[in-house]
Amino acid sequence: MDLARPAHRPKGKVPHAPEARDESGAGLHVAIIMDGNGRWAVSRGSSRPAGHIEGARTARRIVEAAPQCGIRVLTLYAFSADNWNRPQREVAMLMRLFRRYLLSEVDRCIANGVRLTIIGRRDRVPGEVRKAIESAEAATSEGRTLDLRIAVDYSARDSILRAARRAADHHLSREQFSRLLGEVEHDRGPSREVDLLIRTGGEQRLSDFLLWECAYAELYFSDILWPDFSAKDLHAAVAEFHARERRFGGVPAAAAG
Ligand code: IPE
Ligand code: IPE
Ligand code: MG
Repeated sequence: MDLARPAHRPKGKVPHAPEARDESGAGLHVAIIMDGNGRWAVSRGSSRPAGHIEGARTARRIVEAAPQCGIRVLTLYAFSADNWNRPQREVAMLMRLFRRYLLSEVDRCIANGVRLTIIGRRDRVPGEVRKAIESAEAATSEGRTLDLRIAVDYSARDSILRAARRAADHHLSREQFSRLLGEVEHDRGPSREVDLLIRTGGEQRLSDFLLWECAYAELYFSDILWPDFSAKDLHAAVAEFHARERRFGGVPAAAAG
């Protein structure tokens, strides 16, 4: 990374206070833990793979709806590093589904100005998936409407550790470390501070997702299982985000005088 590049520090702002991107007009970064596929399927008497297939359809609908909600960056948690611990058949099915999703979505992404990037490790996914990742990223690299980041074989702790190893002895600022963290994930875009983190499926935990980037994210937990999550639900989550006051360690605006 270019350590000589000055850290971005808006005039008159407290150092390190992340900016609420919606106010600067640059659009929100929304991250989603797409949970509940298995329970959705089982509650219908189907097997878990049926839930994952329906979950992929939901992902497509949410990606389409995101720009109208003011979302500029959308990060979707598709497969965690710990998900390798699932039964081998489910893992193999998820990898096949992921490859199919990439192959089938490229044209739609290009048409809609979506730039697709995969974050997470790439050395453990099957070669066919890796190829699909690389060609989808290359084909969509000109997209400017939405940055769609899909987390596969992703672990925030691993990612922080890899960046920390590279950063050792460089005395980096937080901003520089954030950029480095993006780079270890092959992401050279702007700061990836999360504005709003949504988790569907009723659990209220982060499951090793974007631990650094969510430092000041607004958290939104929904009981809706991911396959049932709709564009309307996304709008509702974003509306709630706008109704909240982000303080970044300061005092409420009304008390600031
Ligand atoms: C999320 O749904 C998808 C992945 C983790 C791949 P789950 O498969 O975790 O669904 P539940 O939580 O078991 O219902
Ligand atoms: C988190 O869901 C990972 C994804 C949604 C891809 P999990 O279902 O794996 O998380 P835990 O096990 O409930 O924490
Ligand atoms: Mg789950």
